[in-house]
Amino acid sequence: MKTLKIAIQKSGRLNEKSVELLKNCGLNFENYKSSLISPVSNFPLEILFLRDDDIPEYVQDGIADLGIVGENVIQETEVEVSYLQKLGFGKCSLKIAVPNNNTIDDLQQLNGRSIATTYPVILGKFLKEKGITSDIRTISGSVEISPGLGLSDAICDLVSTGGTLKSNGLKPFADVMSSEAVLIGRKGSENEDLVQELIQRIQSVLRAKE
Ligand code: PRP
Ligand code: ZN
Ligand code: MG
Repeated sequence: MKTLKIAIQKSGRLNEKSVELLKNCGLNFENYKSSLISPVSNFPLEILFLRDDDIPEYVQDGIADLGIVGENVIQETEVEVSYLQKLGFGKCSLKIAVPNNNTIDDLQQLNGRSIATTYPVILGKFLKEKGITSDIRTISGSVEISPGLGLSDAICDLVSTGGTLKSNGLKPFADVMSSEAVLIGRKGSENEDLVQELIQRIQSVLRAKE
């Protein structure tokens, strides 16, 4: 029998809840922080600890059978994966935010302005739908400091508690999408029986929480 692989976030907002969910499924494994693969002792499964941004591609390419990742990451990477189950944690929204002292109060005022983001695909589609042309500046992290450094007029990033925006003197201005953690898989996985068993365990953990 083949060993399944599930990819979860190595560190960040989804890591702890993803580990908790798998432990609640009765899976025994060490939550190694330094090792990127952890074998499960009582199920034919290995846990891969990855950067969340890479998870959709790993699942699409069959390197992992399953993955736990935010819907926002899936949309941004434009991969072909199947949504198997919403997981009810990691709720957040992708928002455009501007400095507190900014007087922008209408989306159209973003025309000709620059917006820093790690989500250029999602933001690009959103602006196109609204008929707005902005200069999208793609950066790979610490987006919130960009207006303060004079690198952009606005940002587009995930907001969960709002703490990061607040501590950087920014206010939310428009909602682009809402997101939560989801379980993803691949159509035509060769380990369908094991995948189904794991999905059922996850679903019963979720049901017990209701
Ligand atoms: C998001 C986002 C902010 C933070 C906002 O990062 O980029 O940094 O969360 O959360 P708050 O509103 O509660 O302050 P995420 O955890 O998704 O990590 P990543 O960007 O490194 O993938
Ligand atoms: Zn990320
Ligand atoms: Mg971040």
